[in-house]
Amino acid sequence: MEQLEEILKEQDRKERAKEILGKLTLEEKIGMIHGAQLFQTAGVERLGILPLKMSDGPMGVRQEFAGDSWKAVGHSDDYVTYLPCNSALAATWNRQLAYQMGSVLGEEARGRGKDVILAPGVNLKRSPLCGRNFEYFSEDPYLTKEMAVPYIQGVQVWDVAACVKHFAANNQETQRLWVDVEIEEQVLREVYLPVFYEAVMRGGSYTIMGAYNKVKGEHCCQSEFLLNQILRKEWGYDGVVISDWGGVHDTVEAANSQLDIEMSVTNDFDQYFMAEPLKEKILSGEIDEAVVDEKVIRILMLMMRLHMMDGKRKSGAYNTPEHRQVALEVARESIVLLKNKRKLLPLDPEKLKRVLVIGENAEQIHSNGGGSAEIKALYEISPLMGLKSHLGGNVLVDYVQGYCRDEEMEQGEQKENWQENSLENGGGQTKALTADREENKVFELEEKRQKLRQQAVGLAGEYDTVIYIGGLNHEQDCEGRDRADMRLPYEQDRLIGELLDIREDMIVVLTGGSAVEMGSWIERADTLVWGWYGGMEGGNALAEVLIGKVNPSGRLPESFYRTHLDCSAHALGEFAKQTSVKYTEGRYVGYRYLDAYGIEPQFCFGYGIGYSEFVWRNGRLDRERGMVFCLIKNIGEMDGSEVIQVYRKKLGDAAKNYKELIGFDKVFLLAGEEKEVFLGVCWEEGYEYFLGKSVEECQLVDENRDWIEKR
Ligand code: BGC
Repeated sequence: MEQLEEILKEQDRKERAKEILGKLTLEEKIGMIHGAQLFQTAGVERLGILPLKMSDGPMGVRQEFAGDSWKAVGHSDDYVTYLPCNSALAATWNRQLAYQMGSVLGEEARGRGKDVILAPGVNLKRSPLCGRNFEYFSEDPYLTKEMAVPYIQGVQVWDVAACVKHFAANNQETQRLWVDVEIEEQVLREVYLPVFYEAVMRGGSYTIMGAYNKVKGEHCCQSEFLLNQILRKEWGYDGVVISDWGGVHDTVEAANSQLDIEMSVTNDFDQYFMAEPLKEKILSGEIDEAVVDEKVIRILMLMMRLHMMDGKRKSGAYNTPEHRQVALEVARESIVLLKNKRKLLPLDPEKLKRVLVIGENAEQIHSNGGGSAEIKALYEISPLMGLKSHLGGNVLVDYVQGYCRDEEMEQGEQKENWQENSLENGGGQTKALTADREENKVFELEEKRQKLRQQAVGLAGEYDTVIYIGGLNHEQDCEGRDRADMRLPYEQDRLIGELLDIREDMIVVLTGGSAVEMGSWIERADTLVWGWYGGMEGGNALAEVLIGKVNPSGRLPESFYRTHLDCSAHALGEFAKQTSVKYTEGRYVGYRYLDAYGIEPQFCFGYGIGYSEFVWRNGRLDRERGMVFCLIKNIGEMDGSEVIQVYRKKLGDAAKNYKELIGFDKVFLLAGEEKEVFLGVCWEEGYEYFLGKSVEECQLVDENRDWIEKR
């Protein structure tokens, strides 16, 4: 019934759109299909057609820029809720939180008067080195789509369009404008495209953004194959396709492709490929005006879907206490406890007296960095502030920096106008840890780091508790650049190593958007916590986890390799190449490769522990009902959540001899509680099914076997 109503509404919208189209001049139509400002198209005032206003995402609504320059307006009305990054959200494995976070973003976008929020980024984390990994969810297509779909639905509840990006195979930043992804079509369809399909068809995303890179030799933003063949013909998508900023390269190709709106980073708006040059080609008969009409109809339909034309549009709000609460909930559930060997965590605030916090990320502000994902946060609670405010003044908390960043960018603040220059050098580069620098600068930096290290090591013995808070920042996790390897920057390995030499009980906390190498010290660390970019409440969430107010329940949404060379994109395929990049690893993306080739990561996909232990029994598969059942019990002393994961593996298929995630659920259990859990899975003949807590820690389930207790 609802479906029928929706179909009728759609027909209605189409009729109305056609009617309006008939009243538009060619100039007016052209104005609607390209940027007339950096983040908006032209409206048609005489017909009450508003311009379409866009803003980045995904961690909040971006600050206001002048319409024709990348200068921030700088008023006080564009501070917003700063949400955790998408990798953090994925680490919660909590679909409801994904919906809530999307809903915050949608309501804030609406509150800021936007029509399209350029989020979520759903590209797979093919390599841990991709600079934009923090904006993406996971290396796994299933987890990505399960989180992205409710997120999109949450956004769109507010009459704001989500814009799923970047379609498709945008998995590296190096030469992102020109690099040609060479991938077997079947692999593209099986691994990289389903996420987009689900996002637009199940999630119903009203818009989608084309990627900068090429696929099969075509620029994605004007690709016959991706846009015309797959998106429109095969999937039947009738939403709006927006180019990435500067992703269009040719008027004829763009016009004839199913791209609807061309956006870019320069202010010569009339000279955009789909502006004056297109008008001229239409007037000379080289391009048929009908192709523009199709685009305009889709844009008008989008405006109707968003209630931009009927006065029935919802109003939004930003910076509400409820939004901050969602930011906090996501941050809490995203933190992954990776090691707690001697159960040093949670810390007991009653027993703490003197705490030394070491490491720049303890007080680093991250919100204003990262590229287009930068946020002008209303505030950002750093880990140090979070700890101090939770420990409440009776505990001495001292801080030393321990290491320092490269000082290219002060406190994460990105260079003004970087976006204006973002199309230079192919749009991206690979950045080694020691970038080219004058020799004396290198020396100065080394000297400074040595002093900081000596200071930290000298003090570490004098405190009851030492907490290290380091990792990555937006110098590494950043649009337009990839990392050259997975090593921790700023000589942190050496610092952590020296600190562990004297404090084997040091609590190590790392934050960042992608895995880092830990090999030189991990065996000696008893305790390891992984946080991401946790948003404005990240510091509070971390403190709550450290002192046991929150039982950590995050699970890795990606493999933490020992080195990037253990990742299939590097071991079997190519990464960060300049002109073309071969995805010869095929389907073996992420943990699939590790599983098939028997390679041990540092920490595997799906892994994470808490302060409680969970035991499982009676794992069983019910083929008829397509369900997996089990009993799960919290045998610890703290209430907490476990993530139940279902994997399957194809029998007798050498090309697919790996486990793949096909179901999960996050279950909350009071201390001592036991629950029966059942998960719907898509059961098919010819597969083995596994149930467990990570891709490594899982057990075969079938109808004839009841498990014995499993920890
Ligand atoms: C990024 C997009 C972003 C756009 C607008 C581009 O540099 O790739 O993700 O939405 O800029 O800021």
